[in-house]
Amino acid sequence: MVRELFNSIAERYDLANRLISLNLDCCWRRRTCEEALEALSPAGGRISVLDVACGTGDMLRCLKKKLDEKGICAEFYGLDCSENMLEVAKKKVPFARLVPGFAEEMPFDDESFDFITVAFGVRNFFDRRKAIGELYRVLKPDGVLAVLEFSRNPSILGKLAWFYTERVVPLVGGLITGNKKAYSYLAESIGKFPYPEELAKEFESAGFSTLKLRWLFPRIAFLLLLRKGR
Ligand SMILES: C[S@@+](CC[C@H](N)C(=O)[O-])C[C@H]1O[C@@H](n2cnc3c(N)ncnc32)[C@H](O)[C@@H]1O
Repeated sequence: MVRELFNSIAERYDLANRLISLNLDCCWRRRTCEEALEALSPAGGRISVLDVACGTGDMLRCLKKKLDEKGICAEFYGLDCSENMLEVAKKKVPFARLVPGFAEEMPFDDESFDFITVAFGVRNFFDRRKAIGELYRVLKPDGVLAVLEFSRNPSILGKLAWFYTERVVPLVGGLITGNKKAYSYLAESIGKFPYPEELAKEFESAGFSTLKLRWLFPRIAFLLLLRKGR
């Protein structure tokens, strides 16, 4: 169901994101890359980076820019279950190896990656526990995992952002992509998603340790930074 949903909106996904979030989605990805890279201690040489649920490749593009700025050599991989999202990504991130597949069963060897990101993907996984296990398996010991997601926040700002997401986003997203249901699903999936602290506990139960958990303006998105190992 989720794959079909993203296949149907792939062509206009980027435009809808920029307009609906007033470009904030780019700031959230940028902040995620910057903070995650601070936690990363490359031992020299080339590192392996994986973006899970990479969609149209925005996170990969941001990662490449930030790693280039830091002079860190990397090979980039993107995994996604929607072939249409990957089609769009192919044109935007020619430097990355884009692999079709599910987070719940990743086609990668154990301990393949130094650094993994998942932006707005965890909420969509059909078996979150299994996917978290896979993230743990393919990450190297001491590797860093950055999760960027939406959740509800009880502050006034958070409540306003939630109202916008629930009431306005389906109308605007529907107008841009012709698929209002896809954007009603956004609020529905956020509504059912655990709060950030609960999500962090799920990762900790799988063997990760939490490095950082913080809300991003305007308190509808949050960043969870984890390390593999205790
Ligand atoms: C909201 S989009 C986020 C895309 C991108 N990360 C970004 O920041 O724009 C969610 C993506 O997750 C993918 N996805 C959903 N469930 C998945 C799963 N179980 N395994 C792999 N990809 C999945 C969808 O195809 C979609 O491209």
